[in-house]
Order: sequence, then structure tokens, then C-alpha cells
Amino acid sequence: MSVFKDAGHLFRFAGLFVLAFILFLVIRHFVVPKSFGQYGHYRAASIGEIAAHQVKYAGHETCETCHAEVFDVKKDGKHAHVNCEACHGALAKHADDPGAMTPTKPDTAVICARCHTASAAKPKGFPQVVPADHSTGLPCETCHQPHNPGMDAAAPKAPVKAAGGAK
Ligand code: HEC
Ligand code: HEC
Ligand code: HEC
Ligand code: HEC
Repeated sequence: MSVFKDAGHLFRFAGLFVLAFILFLVIRHFVVPKSFGQYGHYRAASIGEIAAHQVKYAGHETCETCHAEVFDVKKDGKHAHVNCEACHGALAKHADDPGAMTPTKPDTAVICARCHTASAAKPKGFPQVVPADHSTGLPCETCHQPHNPGMDAAAPKAPVKAAGGAK
């Protein structure tokens, strides 16, 4: 008895801790989503929700099944590994139903400059230009075929437009 004589304040303090812990469990019960922890330390229901998101990119293989003529031009040039939607943007909607949506042609002043504008941060070997000086205000596709932009003999001859939209 004498051992606990002056320990009352400690028991009250411990009691408070127990109450706080019970309160924590009650709140936790209501705020933690039902499927949390079903498979691991995350909300299992999120898997279905994420899987249900609409696909935005079709992937270049899909584009190439319909636009084989573009693929044929592209495969032999330096843009062989630059995929369609890197320039054309996400087009799953068009690929699913071409009639539902016709893509607009990309603006070369914007897209070509995005990758090729000279910058000290880019690898030395990567082809870079200062667009304003290099193109002297002409659109890039006046001289470069976007799908095969090289200037060597193997590449289709520029300008693209004059060739009646050569594929
Ligand atoms: C199922 C076949 C099909 C698939 C897959 C497809 N396209 Fe098309 N695409 C078409 C058809 C048909 C047209 C012409 C539509 C029109 O003129 O209204 C077209 C038109 C276009 C145009 C406009 C051509 C122009 O002359 O203005 C672009 C750009 C284009 N597609 C890019 C793509 C890209 C990039 C992909 C892959 C994400 C893709 N397409 C996937 C059938 C397809
Ligand atoms: C480096 C950027 C780039 C890539 C990669 C690219 N395109 Fe294009 N594409 C363009 C530009 C720019 C135009 C518009 C050219 C113009 O205005 O004459 C275009 C035009 C088109 C057209 C209209 C017809 C034509 O030949 O002008 C189609 C169809 C097309 N692209 C499909 C594709 C497909 C399919 C792929 C992938 C196999 C692809 N593109 C990859 C930039 C690109
Ligand atoms: C998504 C990035 C990207 C875009 C957009 C892009 N390119 Fe390229 N381009 C590349 C890559 C990658 C290479 C290959 C670089 C290499 O081989 O080291 C390349 C190579 C080139 C070359 C060098 C060809 C050669 O034979 O040396 C030219 C010219 C070129 N692009 C012009 C263009 C033009 C014009 C456009 C706009 C229609 C454009 N690029 C859009 C990534 C891009
Ligand atoms: C008046 C014609 C013309 C126009 C317009 C033009 N180019 Fe070029 N471009 C060329 C020629 C010619 C070469 C080859 C020059 C060389 O090999 O020295 C070239 C080379 C390039 C290269 C490769 C540079 C390297 O170091 O290998 C890139 C990248 C490029 N152009 C991008 C563009 C972009 C982006 C545009 C639009 C902003 C554009 N070009 C507009 C004619 C043009």
C-alpha cells in the first residue's frame, strides 16, 4: 500500500493515455478506407479506380497499322525512334474511332523547337539549332519532312508541301 501512496497522479495520467488511445482507435475506424490493407499498405479499391481511367495514348504500333505509309517514311530516318504521339499528342480517341476525331497537324514551330532548341544542358551529339537563326522564319517542314527530317540523299526531298503532301 505504502508503495503506491503517492502514485495516484501517475495512474490518472496513465488513464488519460488509455482514453486517448481508445479515442484514436474509434476515429481510425471511421476514417481509414474499408479496403485499406487488403493487399498491402494501400487502399485496395484504388487499383480498380486507376484501371478504370480512360487510356489517352494509343501507342505507335496502333498508329502504324493504319498509317503504314508514314511508318515506311519514318523507319529509315533519324526520327525512327521518336514515337507518333510524342509529336501528335495523345490520340487514343482518334485511334479507337478515326471518324470521331480528326487530329490537327502539329505546329512545327512549337514541336520541333521543343526538342531541338539549342541548350547547353543537352548532350553535345544531339542535333540542335537556334530556331530563329536556323529557319529564318520559315516553318521547319518547308525543308524537313517531319517523319524523316534528314538532309541526306536517302531522305525524301524537301519541300514536303510542294510534293503534294508526300507521305
Ligand atoms: C483505325 C485506323 C487508324 C488508327 C489506329 C489511327 N489513325 Fe490516324 N487517321 C485514320 C483515318 C481514316 C484518318 C483520316 C480521317 C479524316 O480525314 O477525317 C486519319 C487521320 C489522321 C491524321 C490527320 C491527317 C491529315 O491529313 O490531316 C493524323 C495526324 C493521324 N491520323 C495520326 C494518327 C496517329 C498519331 C495515330 C496513333 C495514335 C493514328 N492516327 C491512329 C485512321 C487511323
Ligand atoms: C517528329 C514529330 C512527328 C512524329 C514523330 C510523327 N509525326 Fe506525323 N506529322 C508531324 C507533323 C509536323 C505533321 C504535319 C506536316 C505538315 O504540316 O505538312 C505530321 C503529319 C502527319 C500526318 C498527315 C499526313 C502527312 O503525312 O502529312 C499523318 C497521317 C501523321 N503525321 C501520322 C503520324 C504517325 C502515324 C506517326 C508515327 C508512326 C507520326 N505521324 C509521327 C510530326 C510528327
Ligand atoms: C520528341 C523529340 C523530338 C521532336 C519533337 C522532334 N525531333 Fe528531330 N530528332 C529527335 C531525335 C531523338 C533525333 C535523333 C538524334 C540522334 O540521332 O542523335 C532527331 C533528329 C533530327 C534531325 C537530324 C537528322 C539527321 O539526319 O541528322 C533533324 C534535322 C530533326 N530531328 C528535325 C526535326 C524537325 C524538323 C522536327 C519537327 C517536325 C523535329 N525534329 C521534332 C527528336 C525530336
Ligand atoms: C530553309 C530550309 C530549312 C528550314 C526552314 C529549317 N531547316 Fe533545319 N536544316 C536545314 C539544312 C539544309 C540542314 C543541314 C545543315 C547542315 O547539315 O549543316 C538542317 C539541319 C537541321 C538540324 C540538324 C542540326 C545538326 O546539328 O545536325 C536540325 C535539328 C534542324 N535542322 C532543325 C530545324 C528546325 C527545328 C526547324 C524549324 C524551326 C528547321 N530546322 C528549319 C534546312 C532548314
